Amino acid sequence: MEKTAKIYNDLDRILVTKEEIAEAVRKLGEQITRDYAGKEPVLLCILKGATPFFCDLIREIDLPLTLEFMAVSSYGAATKSSGVVQIRKDLDHDITGRDVLIVEDIVDSGVTLHYLSKHLAGRGAASIRIATLLDKPARRRVELKTDYVCFEIPDAFVVGYGLDYAEKYRNLPDIGVLAPRIYEAE
Ligand code: IMP
Ligand code: MG
Repeated sequence: MEKTAKIYNDLDRILVTKEEIAEAVRKLGEQITRDYAGKEPVLLCILKGATPFFCDLIREIDLPLTLEFMAVSSYGAATKSSGVVQIRKDLDHDITGRDVLIVEDIVDSGVTLHYLSKHLAGRGAASIRIATLLDKPARRRVELKTDYVCFEIPDAFVVGYGLDYAEKYRNLPDIGVLAPRIYEAE
């Protein structure tokens, strides 16, 4: 397709294909279904990056569950975290006594989720776990336990399947390494 071909020109290479994503998400859904058997977890989507992953994942979980959405940001348009976390949209419901599963697109420095898990623990959740599509362990700046990881990736800036650069590329079905010339001028 014309439109897709144009966006794909900005990538150096494809890192994870949509078929590999679908398979990993299916397996993760099965594992979560087993691990949370008998419970009714709250699946918490971290906007906007986790949206495609979240939508696919919840349909692979065979349990009663509820959905929440939060928007946090530590980024702006840059490709490096500022280290400052801001809550832009908060939970709609009380999570006291609930088993919360945070669904995130990528853990990089770990700063965002470190802050967020502490914040949610202070609101009385029974348990808090993290499911992330991608993990860049090489870039960790704070200690963070990721409970579910679909793919560990090398230290490269990636886009697609929800991940953006300056709000673009979120609609790519695959995940690819963004060509440095795109953000070089930064
Ligand atoms: P952290 O706080 O450094 O772990 O950053 C987490 C957030 O940074 C993610 O939710 C993404 O929004 C963003 N991020 C980190 N690495 C990438 C990347 O390679 N591509 C796009 N966004 C990224
Ligand atoms: Mg994000």
